[in-house]
Amino acid sequence: MEPFRIKKAAFVTSVNGQGGYPEKRPELALVGRSNVGKSSLINCLTGNGKLARISAAPGKTRLINYYLINDSFYLVDLPGYGFAQRSKGERESWGKLMESYLTSGRVDHLLLLLDIRHEPTEEDRQMYQFLLYYNIPFTIVATKADKVAKSKRQQAANQNAKLVGAPPWGLPFSAETRDGRETLLERLGTIVSEKLVSAQENEREPLTEP
Ligand code: GTP
Ligand code: MG
Repeated sequence: MEPFRIKKAAFVTSVNGQGGYPEKRPELALVGRSNVGKSSLINCLTGNGKLARISAAPGKTRLINYYLINDSFYLVDLPGYGFAQRSKGERESWGKLMESYLTSGRVDHLLLLLDIRHEPTEEDRQMYQFLLYYNIPFTIVATKADKVAKSKRQQAANQNAKLVGAPPWGLPFSAETRDGRETLLERLGTIVSEKLVSAQENEREPLTEP
């Protein structure tokens, strides 16, 4: 089988969780602390450094941003959590936005991003519990892998997965050196093609009498 490639990536729309979602397609979203590297991962995967906005200051992404990949599925960039400088009002609106998005039934798979260098926080564990509760399939990605010696990366990624409460496997990834990019792309390709196949099968199902 040919390796999965991203040939086309385009920004579609930003929504605030109150509707206005784009046409339904397979949907993979990124969650994680502010500054963990969600937007950078999207740029790295798509090979477009300017697609999603990145900043050294946390809290750059404020809305739910949809990117259409290969005209067939969405990568969804979400605002991060755990950003101390935010006001109470801002934290509340973040909570509402995430809750309405994650309970909308739109998301097919979540990438939970954890910084490879740091122990997961209480909020990371809460996020993990949340996605378990809603039964959302997930992959744990350990970001900024370039900050850890190559020989220690897999172990550090697994350890963080374990500490967040998940099965002990994480995918080390670096947007800086592109380490882990091929592995992640392959995984996304599999998820999307399974989703597309099951959508086609549903379409073929005979109509039942009302
Ligand atoms: P919010 O939008 O605030 O939630 O943050 P985010 O998770 O989208 O993080 P973003 O992609 O904006 O990256 C935050 C900072 O981390 C930027 O300064 C990036 O350059 C840096 N960064 C992201 N990925 C990597 C990586 O793989 N390695 C290194 N060394 N730095 C990275
Ligand atoms: Mg961002």
